[in-house]
Amino acid sequence: MPATHAEPRFVQCHHEDPQASRAELLRGLTAPTAVTSPKFLYDRLGSKLFDAITELDEYYPTRTEAAIFRDHAVQMAAAIGPVGSLIDLGAGNCAKASSLFGALQPARYLAVDISVDFLREALDRVAREFPQIEVVGIGQDFSSSLALPPELVSGRPVFFYPGSSIGNFTPQQALQFLGGLHQQASGGGLLIGVDLVKAASVLEPAYDDALGVTAAFNLNLLLHLNRLIGSDFEPRQWRHIACYNAEQSRIEMHLEARRELVVRWPGGSRRFDAGERIHTENSYKYSIDGFATLLADAGFAKSSHWTDEDGQFAVFWAAA
Ligand code: AVJ
Repeated sequence: MPATHAEPRFVQCHHEDPQASRAELLRGLTAPTAVTSPKFLYDRLGSKLFDAITELDEYYPTRTEAAIFRDHAVQMAAAIGPVGSLIDLGAGNCAKASSLFGALQPARYLAVDISVDFLREALDRVAREFPQIEVVGIGQDFSSSLALPPELVSGRPVFFYPGSSIGNFTPQQALQFLGGLHQQASGGGLLIGVDLVKAASVLEPAYDDALGVTAAFNLNLLLHLNRLIGSDFEPRQWRHIACYNAEQSRIEMHLEARRELVVRWPGGSRRFDAGERIHTENSYKYSIDGFATLLADAGFAKSSHWTDEDGQFAVFWAAA
């Protein structure tokens, strides 16, 4: 009889450093062009607003990627081969990975997210539904360190990085990150979702929807900053901007001051002119060839990919 694992295990590796976050934020906010890391978009409400974004007609990536997984699961499983450990980077509610369990049949599922607390409910559910899979939740900031406790990774490692989150890195950072994954994935590989270059007339509404959900997601950053650094940002004084930078193949999100204003926090302040911006996110888009080249440059010997009919999104399998 195969072993059953009704109880997930949880390991918290990463610990928030409020001092470091504060220093990073103040450096960005006082730079000539103010900038914040997109990770600060995801407080509790921000995560819910992002979930709402994925339900919008204009936001094609989530449903398009899900359709690619649905339509090509069998071919993907054949290309990937046996899976010892499926390592889900940014697992969240674990829905994407668990939709592939039937096809991939991993022996072990390692769900990685910044805090194990985000994973508990979802992993309890996964463990009950798939008792044949050994389930482990890992709290780790994988964007700064990929080193997983080696005793947790057993068998052939397959990394899973869906959702096109790779687009938040610059191509240079993405190369570094993929190089690190290549080292960790030795003998296995990487299954990754990538958003593709397309017309600005499709991209811009996806990041500036009619209902204003993405605007709320972006503006909510200001409330999160107020809690993190004690600032007095007023969301009503700011406007959400999303624009496609075709030269750099990236959507940029900014917050733009509606009028001249001053933001204060304990120990400092900054004046913003009317129209001055805080750069809050980049979301890079790739061509199929461009991303295949990036994977090769990162050390992955060969890759295959699947797309939707309209060529909006791609899923790559890269063997390591
Ligand atoms: C979670 C980084 C994939 O870039 O499409 C969605 C974030 N920002 N709408 C993306 C996001 C605004 C999303 N990623």
